[in-house]
Amino acid sequence: MLLLPRVLLVIAFLLAAAVPRAAQTDVKTGLVLAPGFEVVSTQCTVCHSARLISQNRADREGWLAMIRWMQQTQGLWPLGDNEDLVLDYLAANYGPVAKGRRARLRDEFLPPR
Ligand code: HEC
Repeated sequence: MLLLPRVLLVIAFLLAAAVPRAAQTDVKTGLVLAPGFEVVSTQCTVCHSARLISQNRADREGWLAMIRWMQQTQGLWPLGDNEDLVLDYLAANYGPVAKGRRARLRDEFLPPR
C-alpha cells in the first residue's frame, strides 16, 4: 500500500541526482564559488564590477593577456604568488564556451539586399 509513494520518492531522488546542477555563485559578486574565489573577489573588484569578469570568457593565455593589459595601462598591481591561483580560477570557471553566439541567419530569413 505504501509502496507506490516510496517508489515515486526513489524516482524523484534519482532524477534530482541526474540533473546537473549549476555552479554555486556568490550572492554579492555573482562570481562562481570555487578555489581562488576569495582572491579574485577581493583583488579584481576594486576598480570595476565583477560582472566585467563574469561576462568575459577566455582561456588561461587570454586571461593573462587581459591582466597584463590592465597592469600596463590601468594601474593593476602585480598579483605575485596569487597570479597562478587567479589564472586557474578564471580559466576553469570562465573558460571559452563551445558556442559564443548563434549561427548567422540563412539568406532566406534576411531582408532582400
Ligand atoms: C587597478 C584597477 C583594476 C583592477 C584592480 C582590475 N581591473 Fe580589470 N579593468 C580595469 C579597467 C580600467 C578596465 C577597462 C574598463 C572598461 O573598459 O570600462 C578593466 C577591464 C577588465 C576586463 C574587460 C577586458 C576587455 O577586454 O573587455 C576584464 C575581463 C577585467 N578587467 C578583469 C579583471 C580581473 C580578472 C582582475 C583581477 C585580476 C581585474 N580586472 C582587476 C581596471 C582594473
